[in-house]
Amino acid sequence: MLGNFSYHNPTKLYFGKDSLQYLNEELPKYGKTVQLVYGGGSVRRNGIYDSVMQLLQSNGKTVVEDGGVMSNPTADKLREGAKLAREHNVDLILAVGGGSCCDYAKAVSVSAHCGDDPWEKYYIRFEEPDCRIIPVGCVLTMAGTGSEMNGGAVITNHEQKLKIGHVFGDEVMPKFSILNPEYTYTLPRRQMVAGIYDIFNHICEQYFSGEDDNTSDYLAEALMKSVIHSSLIAIENPEDYEARSNIMWTATWALNTLISRGKTTDWMVHMLGQAVGAYTDATHGMTLAAVSLPYYKKIMQYGMQKFVRFAREVWGIDTNELTDEEAAAAGLDAMESWMKSLGLTMHISELGATEEMLDGITSATIILDGGYKVLTKEEIKQVLKDSM
Ligand code: NZQ
Ligand code: ZN
Repeated sequence: MLGNFSYHNPTKLYFGKDSLQYLNEELPKYGKTVQLVYGGGSVRRNGIYDSVMQLLQSNGKTVVEDGGVMSNPTADKLREGAKLAREHNVDLILAVGGGSCCDYAKAVSVSAHCGDDPWEKYYIRFEEPDCRIIPVGCVLTMAGTGSEMNGGAVITNHEQKLKIGHVFGDEVMPKFSILNPEYTYTLPRRQMVAGIYDIFNHICEQYFSGEDDNTSDYLAEALMKSVIHSSLIAIENPEDYEARSNIMWTATWALNTLISRGKTTDWMVHMLGQAVGAYTDATHGMTLAAVSLPYYKKIMQYGMQKFVRFAREVWGIDTNELTDEEAAAAGLDAMESWMKSLGLTMHISELGATEEMLDGITSATIILDGGYKVLTKEEIKQVLKDSM
């Protein structure tokens, strides 16, 4: 049964090879000063920076440069970006990059005028914005997080060894996002597959919860099948437009709140992955890949029917002659083979996690209660050990 819900997504999307030109429709809606957010330099090397800059200039904008956003953007960088936005009184924040740039832009948008330390306010005290919010637009260059159409903004505090996401409301979500699948062609293979696993796991997080007959789960299965299919084409030919466009579109739908409507969700793989990330600064999708199988094997017995359904519907396994345990395990085996064929990192030790860190990572893991089993701290530690 679907629970009660409201659904509204305010982000306008422009998708396709020519989508950047729609900046000409969007930019005139905002004031003169634009904070241009980008990462460590990929957009300069592949020419996207120049194309965006040209459109900003032809639209008469004054550009405030805010480059150097790192993967897993930090609380310190957020404070700098908020100061920049405040001092220049910017009218629009335009993120050109992956999820890190989009997340950072949203965090800056609620921090510039908040009159408080943004890390403390939004990530420790989890308060909602009560100040002027600067509008955000995105030009996406990496498919994975879904940040282009959601309110999430994940920030890392290295001093406190915490990586925390705040999901903000409609008013913080991007006003528009431009999705050109060709922009993802220059992604290094490791980032491409990390993004693909991030997409897949976002769907799993929403699928592996609840036992009811729910439209959201059927949508989730279709999205999983699409991303599996396209991933196998994209690793052979990264410039296959059909595959890259399907991956990009699936990423958006995997985490724009649609498939979580009316049902409970898990999100423990992300809680584990974020805690690993807080200690290692590793690539987000890889942290998820490395903890997933130990986690799912741990909870499988508590959500057996969904794991059997996963094997049958997502991986096409004939479950008729199998016990539930055998069928569920076959589904996870199929998932493991697919993950290995993509070349995902399967162990947190390969991401820099050490035995000495395990207690810290355990205590940095936020325990949520929407999944099939609410884990104890001891069980969290065991999953992490099994992930080594
Ligand atoms: O920094 P540059 O030089 O641009 O390079 C980036 C970066 O090194 C590179 N890249 C991106 N587009 C490229 C490219 N290189 C070549 N060609 C291109 N077209 O890829 C690297 C990774 O980029 P990043 O933005 O860090 O990756 P991703 O999109 O995976 O974002 C990760 C962040 O998003 C958060 C993660 O925790 C992490 O902090 N998440 C946000 C979510 C949300 N808003 O809902 C949900 C997710 O679960 C996730 O937690
Ligand atoms: Zn994710």
